[in-house]
Parts: sequence; C-alpha cells; structure tokens
Amino acid sequence: MKQPSLIVANWKMQGSLSKNKALVLGILEKLKSNTTTSAETEIECVLCPPAVYLPQVAELLAGQQIKLGAQNAYCEPSGAYTGEIAPEMLQEIGCTYVILGHSERRTLFFETDELIARKFGAAYHAGLTPILCVGETHAEREAGSTFEVVARQINAVLNTVPIAAWEKAVIAYEPVWAIGTGLTATPEVAQAVHAFIRQCLAKKVPQCATSTRILYGGSVKRDNALSLFNEPDIDGGLIGGASLNAEEFVKICMSARVKSLE
Ligand code: PGA
Repeated sequence: MKQPSLIVANWKMQGSLSKNKALVLGILEKLKSNTTTSAETEIECVLCPPAVYLPQVAELLAGQQIKLGAQNAYCEPSGAYTGEIAPEMLQEIGCTYVILGHSERRTLFFETDELIARKFGAAYHAGLTPILCVGETHAEREAGSTFEVVARQINAVLNTVPIAAWEKAVIAYEPVWAIGTGLTATPEVAQAVHAFIRQCLAKKVPQCATSTRILYGGSVKRDNALSLFNEPDIDGGLIGGASLNAEEFVKICMSARVKSLE
C-alpha cells in the first residue's frame, strides 16, 4: 500500500519554550489554512525538537495530526548510561519516530555503524519508527564511493536487525556536503542514490523495497522541494534549517502533498 509522503522537521539543538510554542502554533495554523480536511491524511508531518522539549511539544500537538519524534535514542531500555535516553522513555512521552545515525551524530559524537544498528533494533523493540540517516561526505563523493558508503551504512543495519524491524522503518538520504550548506543535491543526483537504496533493500528485504519511504535531506527549501519530491523514489524530506520557520516548513509540506495526491 502506498504510504503518504513524510516530512520530518529536525530542529537540532535549537529552540526555547517561547520559540517552540510560536513555531508549533504557527505550523498548525498555516497547515490548516493551506489544506482541506482530508489533506492531513495525504502527508505525514513529524516534529523532532530537542529531547527536553518533547513533553512541551507533545502537549502542543495533542489531538493534532502532526506526530512527535526524537533526534536520537540509546540502544538499551534502562541502566547506568548517564546522560542517555531510552527509546521506551521516548515512546512513553508520546514519540512515534526517532532519527538515528544523523551525520552530526556520526561525525561529532563518533557513532559507528554498529552502534547505530543496535539503536535501530532497540527503537523498533520499543515501538518507535526509526528514521535511519545515511549519506556520503564531500570527499567520499569526489572519490566516487557514494554507493559504497551508503550500502555499508544500510547493510550494517540490514544484517543485524530482524526483518520485521524494516516493515515501518524510514531511510533518510542526506549527503553530508548538502547539510546546512545551502548546497542541494540535484533531483537527478538524489534520485540515483534513492534508487540505489531501494536496490539494497530489494536484496535483503524484498517485501519492503517498494514500501519503505526514503526521504531526502540537505538544504531542502520551499524553492527546491517540489523538484526533489517529484522524483519517483523520493518520498519526502528531512528538513533542518527550513523547519524552524513555520511558513517555509508548511510550504515544503505542501510540495510533498502534491506527490501524495498523484
Ligand atoms: P538542513 O539539515 O536542512 O539544514 O540542511 C538537514 C538535516 O541535517 O537533517
């Protein structure tokens, strides 16, 4: 069954109680004024604020269609892991999604493919939908190893988690050189990697190859969103900077809706 396009807002380490409230209320209001009643089921939106603000945003989203997600989670349900947050805790607070393996986690916090695979399995067991981020650096693209890097990052998870864990999972292709830089992969470049990701899935979890939503992330803005989402294997976006502006974010959501309605 075709799933609706998915737009995920990654606020990263940004926000405050007052800014979050204004942003969430702005998004809700603009989404309502831009859509008909059925539109809310035609796209799926997820907001991922910093962990401390999850309860606040959960309350603001109560009774709304927009879902809540976290930016990270640990791979154990409880224990002596100072500073970490268990996926079960996120689930209890109202999260349905969790971003895992973001390139900032991989590079700044030294997360390995193996750790990310463990986190993926733990998130699945806690009932969360993992959004697995993959993508090559500028140097890796220049060296012609984009497909190799992306396959390694995906296979690390595919080889370790139960097949059932893939049934709801989402992948986000985020070329590292496009994140926060203003450089976006062209729709053709992104589509080529997305199609390759589907081939990787087809080899190990063929039943999920066409149904898994593959998002593009990296400097998505209202001006480039539609051309990216029009590509056949791009099922939505993971939005950083542009998700902090209600009008910009809702415009991006509306671009994804065009595809869902096709
Ligand atoms: P950006 O970030 O949209 O600001 O490039 C995307 C991301 O890091 O998820």
